[in-house]
Amino acid sequence: MLVQVTTLTEADISGAVTCIQQAFKDDPYNHWVFDKDNFSFERNAVSLAIRCRWGMSHALFHVAKDNDDPTGEVLGVACWLPPRSSQTALIWHDWAGDWWLWFSQVRMNMWYGRGGLNVQRYWIWKARQAEAQEQLWTDAKGYYFCNIVTVLPKAQGRGIGKLLFKHVIDQADREGVKCYLESSRAVPNMAIYEKMGFDMAREMECADDGTAITLYCMMREPKLS
Ligand SMILES: CC(C)(COP(=O)(O)OP(=O)(O)OC[C@H]1O[C@@H](n2cnc3c(N)ncnc32)[C@H](O)[C@@H]1OP(=O)(O)O)[C@@H](O)C(=O)NCCC(=O)NCCS
Repeated sequence: MLVQVTTLTEADISGAVTCIQQAFKDDPYNHWVFDKDNFSFERNAVSLAIRCRWGMSHALFHVAKDNDDPTGEVLGVACWLPPRSSQTALIWHDWAGDWWLWFSQVRMNMWYGRGGLNVQRYWIWKARQAEAQEQLWTDAKGYYFCNIVTVLPKAQGRGIGKLLFKHVIDQADREGVKCYLESSRAVPNMAIYEKMGFDMAREMECADDGTAITLYCMMREPKLS
């Protein structure tokens, strides 16, 4: 198996969506934010495809595939938001992208409804996330933010996650920029991310109606060569 990491293309989107859905099926955050009895797999796939299309021009969106596999199955996906320096104003390209994303999501909600999404919990998570980032993101250079990283369950533990990380971590090291992620699992993910140079920065608790989940904010200092 010769796994290669490439930039996401339109042809990869369906495979990338399948990979994300499979890898996050038992994710604690997903269970908390979606009502499982009303969960719409179809609406979720549309939502992820919108995120992929947005990410193709506004994020570092990568897929891992086996070069020897003629089907081109997507084995892993990573989406990183690039660092935004505190000195840089929002450029029109980002502004237009944010609006495109918003309109696409509104259209999707009108067509599919919420698909089991607990909107109140979604906004609780967003508020906790903003608080954590406000406290932790103190570096004027900004942070590479690992927004999504998933490997198909059948391909996990074979170095694909590491390969996906390496792609951006190497770039961050060259630029002397920190990396950041929020993991929805302590075990086994924290140990995996520690292997990639991340350290625990703080916990982020999201609580609603007597049910709480904890996310783990982790930071990676650039390794200077
Ligand atoms: C987290 C995830 C992306 C990691 O990808 P992966 O391909 O399974 O990980 P790798 O095989 O590249 O392993 C990377 C390192 O972690 C170690 N590792 C892998 N699985 C581990 C486990 N269960 N416990 C401890 N260490 C582990 C590996 O040995 C390797 O260490 P090394 O640098 O010494 O070789 C993947 O397991 C996944 O998609 N999980 C489900 C979805 C998810 O939780 N996504 C993240 C949400 S925050």
